[in-house]
Amino acid sequence: MALLAFETSCDETSVAVVRDGRVLSNCVSSQIKLHEEYGGVVPELAAREHLRNLPAVAAKALEGAAVTQGEIRAVAATRGPGLPSALMAGLKAAQAFAFMIRRPFIGIHHHEAHLYSPWIQGLPPAADFSGFEPNVSLIVSGGHTMLIHVRAELDHVFLGATVDDAAGECFDKAGKLMGLAYPAGPVIDRLAGEGNATAFDFPRPMIHEPHHDFSFSGLKTSVRYFIRDHPEILNDSGAVRDLCASVQAAIVEVLVEKTIRAAKACRVKCITASGGVTCNRHLRTALGESCRRGGIKLRLAEKELCTDNAAMIGILAERKLAHGGFETGLDAEIMPNWSLENPAAT
Ligand code: KG4
Ligand code: ZN
Repeated sequence: MALLAFETSCDETSVAVVRDGRVLSNCVSSQIKLHEEYGGVVPELAAREHLRNLPAVAAKALEGAAVTQGEIRAVAATRGPGLPSALMAGLKAAQAFAFMIRRPFIGIHHHEAHLYSPWIQGLPPAADFSGFEPNVSLIVSGGHTMLIHVRAELDHVFLGATVDDAAGECFDKAGKLMGLAYPAGPVIDRLAGEGNATAFDFPRPMIHEPHHDFSFSGLKTSVRYFIRDHPEILNDSGAVRDLCASVQAAIVEVLVEKTIRAAKACRVKCITASGGVTCNRHLRTALGESCRRGGIKLRLAEKELCTDNAAMIGILAERKLAHGGFETGLDAEIMPNWSLENPAAT
């Protein structure tokens, strides 16, 4: 029996079918183009686009998995955190579907699902929990930057998060200051590959502080002042590459240092990472090198599973079903502010 999962917390409309830890289909319709001209996600546009896309994406997911409605044993959807109107679109569609086929519904915490995406690997992807180990997980995207201690399956402790901008937001805003297209993260990644990371010196906020929080808004501000004081740089493509490499180096160094330190503090020998910024090549390499030096295993989500997807929602929902007692009512509401730090906040 399979499980149908929905994810619409931000700007990806995604529906997946999973069965016994295997992802049978994972359809994602990205709205990046729609929001590009606004330089960020516009919540009402996102919600309307989800409503428009959901029927086709769900049909494609079922067709791709070659699964009939009768073979679905449960339906899951992201309940929070996320943009309220966007969450509502996927959650209500999933509940309506569960009601129609008379199957249980499971509401999923978006960040908790991210903790499971690094365990989904291979082609077709399957989640391999046989080698599961306690780990420290870095979730790093345009909306979030946080560290979680995963003590066991379904047992995790929030360690810290950004107190202001997320790392992805810092990439995007720094890129905007350089005149790069939204989202600038992937563009900076590409340009930085040909730049000199030591050309310009940017701050590494909170890198030496012993807590597990992050702060990226000061770094963004220092990029703003730097460009204000050296506007000629933007007319020199070589200097822009150096600027990209230098900003990227500052962000990545903070992420890597703090993640390694958290792993040591929690005495775990495994680090996992997911979220859009985990696609960054320098972050992947730098985490790999630091983990190797520290004798720590590293499990990075595969690139297509770093960004928001319903496969991770489905995989976590299956684990919850396997452990029992996680059904959510068909009348359950969205929880836009649901946090891992304070699970009671809705
Ligand atoms: O997880 P995601 O798709 O969406 C949310 O933010 O929820 O992450 C998108 C973020 C954007 O800020 C984007 O610029 C960043 O991930 N990103 C990257 C790269 N690919 C995506 N940042 C740096 N390097 C990349 N290769
Ligand atoms: Zn996410």
